[in-house]
Amino acid sequence: MLTCPLCSAPLQAADNGVGCPLGHRFDRARQGYLNLLPVQHKNSRDPGDNQAMVEARRRFLDGGHYAPLAARLAELAARRQPDRWLDIGCGEGYYTTRLAQALPAAEGYALDISREAVKRACRRAPDVEWLVASMARVPLADASCGLLASVFSPLDWQEARRLLTPGGGLLRMGPTRRHLLELRGRLYDEIRDYDDRKHLALIPEGMQAVHGEELEFRLTLGDAQARADLLAMTPHGWRASAERRAAVIDAPLEVTVSIRYDWIERLP
Ligand SMILES: C[S@@+](CC[C@H](N)C(=O)[O-])C[C@H]1O[C@@H](n2cnc3c(N)ncnc32)[C@H](O)[C@@H]1O
Ligand SMILES: [Zn+2]
Repeated sequence: MLTCPLCSAPLQAADNGVGCPLGHRFDRARQGYLNLLPVQHKNSRDPGDNQAMVEARRRFLDGGHYAPLAARLAELAARRQPDRWLDIGCGEGYYTTRLAQALPAAEGYALDISREAVKRACRRAPDVEWLVASMARVPLADASCGLLASVFSPLDWQEARRLLTPGGGLLRMGPTRRHLLELRGRLYDEIRDYDDRKHLALIPEGMQAVHGEELEFRLTLGDAQARADLLAMTPHGWRASAERRAAVIDAPLEVTVSIRYDWIERLP
């Protein structure tokens, strides 16, 4: 099912990696992931989230603070029972691992452009095929996936449509306008409102939103490390002033976690 990121021909297993009939070769890293991001497709030397962001997200998520979000994501995926699924922008694999547990009979793939993220992610679930790759040129065949997951990540909608089987769908999870409201209140003088349905306007022809729901709960972060990690894994970590960030880390915090799930289907 994998395709060559340079010429789109099918990839076959070749010693310690994969290769296409034109002779393009890609190695499997010692940790187990495949690097399918050719140098010429990289916009920077180390694209995607850096090591510090990945470490912060891993510690925070492993602390269980967002466990209800992952549990609901897994439930929604389990309803679909796809033959093959792909997590696009998988990060360090916390949600991917829950998807793999929810879909034990299916063939699972996960990709991220950040090598630091995939290096850590692939330890979590060896049965998933982990890829360092770009979501703008996903190295999988047309109509090959019954389910795509996009969790707190950007998305290339044209690629999503290309990858989906007719009747398959994209399970998207993202913040609502209330997400981390109290944190934003402490960081900024003015809380910028945003439209948490604007992704729905981007759905291309041939795809249709068929289900949407929200999940909201209060989270108390009594631990300074957890507050620092939450800051480091969100854009607020670098947007706000150093003073305001330090103040957030210093004092206990109670925040609203508010998430929206959408199931967006490819029409048959
Ligand atoms: C906010 S993180 C979410 C990670 C993970 N889904 C989670 O929620 O824990 C967004 C991820 O998208 C990845 N990313 C950004 N641009 C990308 C691209 N063009 N192709 C693939 N991944 C990309 C980043 O490296 C990062 O890991
Ligand atoms: Zn090739």
